[in-house]
Amino acid sequence: MPFSSQRKWIVAPLGVGALGLLIYAGSPQSGAQRTGEDARAQVSPVFTPAHRGVLDAIRDFFNRQPVPVQPIAFTHKVHLANGMQCTDCHTTVETGPVAGIPSVELCMTCHQTIAADKLEIKKIAAYQARGEDIPWQRVYAYSPTVHVKFNHAPHIRAGVDCAHCHGNMTQQTVAVRAVDLNMGYCVSCHRQKKASLDCITCHF
Ligand code: HEC
Ligand code: HEC
Ligand code: HEC
Ligand code: HEC
Ligand code: HEC
Repeated sequence: MPFSSQRKWIVAPLGVGALGLLIYAGSPQSGAQRTGEDARAQVSPVFTPAHRGVLDAIRDFFNRQPVPVQPIAFTHKVHLANGMQCTDCHTTVETGPVAGIPSVELCMTCHQTIAADKLEIKKIAAYQARGEDIPWQRVYAYSPTVHVKFNHAPHIRAGVDCAHCHGNMTQQTVAVRAVDLNMGYCVSCHRQKKASLDCITCHF
């Protein structure tokens, strides 16, 4: 009797673990990425918490998003140590809703000459030569099912530091999801700073 009830407590977490592994391994997005186009295509015109399928729902429940693999081994650390500012590359972050990802042309203004013999830089030059932009993968992107709208500009105006929401970039190579930008995170600061708590401020 005591043995079997004990066993249940051992088996139950094992079962949950196996389910987790199953989701991880079975995820069609664990290698390939959820791109912006992909995400937009899934946006439904009404605000619904509906998911495309059971696996999608379970993945969302466990908040498991794919870790993006970038096409170029970009490094924030090196560029920031060389005195560059966020706005040199994310040019619209202070003025509009999106920060903006730099074009391959911007990279090549320096890398035409700087470190031009390095492998990663040659890859960048090859994108430019083909007339292609670098296919950067999104790091901070909400599932379209949560219908979140965000705007950088008012936060920068209000003096909220980039690091507050994105972590310390001087220690990151490619950007990593350093902060979980969930609803509680947004709302607790809005409450504190007396910013809007209306659902439609952040949702569409
Ligand atoms: C209040 C939190 C917050 C602050 C402060 C903030 N961001 Fe963001 N950032 C976000 C969120 C949320 C997203 C994802 C938005 C989305 O997917 O709609 C994002 C996305 C981005 C992106 C990728 C998408 C885009 O908008 O082009 C970049 C780049 C970025 N932020 C850079 C910055 C920089 C640089 C700063 C500081 C000047 C900054 N962020 C400050 C919350 C913040
Ligand atoms: C203002 C000039 C400037 C711009 C613009 C710039 N970089 Fe750089 N980048 C540098 C400097 C300086 C280094 C350090 C070179 C070194 O240490 O030899 C560097 C280093 C790198 C490296 C590491 C090279 C290596 O293997 O050592 C990569 C990768 C890189 N940059 C990618 C990019 C990409 C992608 C862009 C565009 C989004 C970009 N850079 C834009 C100046 C720039
Ligand atoms: C030399 C250009 C350059 C500078 C300077 C730069 N970034 Fe970036 N940033 C990039 C590139 C290229 C990417 C796309 C690759 C990646 O995700 O790391 C990116 C991606 C990001 C992302 C993830 C965007 C997404 O996909 O959701 C954030 C957040 C970000 N940068 C914040 C910052 C902040 C904050 C600063 C200043 C402290 C900064 N960056 C400075 C070039 C730059
Ligand atoms: C550290 C504090 C802080 C955090 C975290 C924060 N916000 Fe804000 N947010 C503000 C402040 C302050 C304002 C008001 C700025 C103003 O009055 O112009 C604001 C304004 C906004 C606005 C514009 C409202 C309008 O009237 O135009 C939106 C949209 C928004 N926030 C969404 C978000 C979302 C989504 C998140 C979570 C990813 C978030 N915020 C996280 C402080 C924050
Ligand atoms: C300050 C911004 C902000 C405000 C105000 C806000 N939300 Fe959200 N909400 C978010 C963000 C960001 C997410 C996405 C969280 C994530 O994906 O981790 C979210 C997610 C959600 C979700 C989806 C949960 C899920 O996992 O499917 C629902 C439902 C929701 N919000 C309802 C509301 C309602 C109702 C209100 C008004 C009472 C509201 N929100 C106000 C920012 C906000």
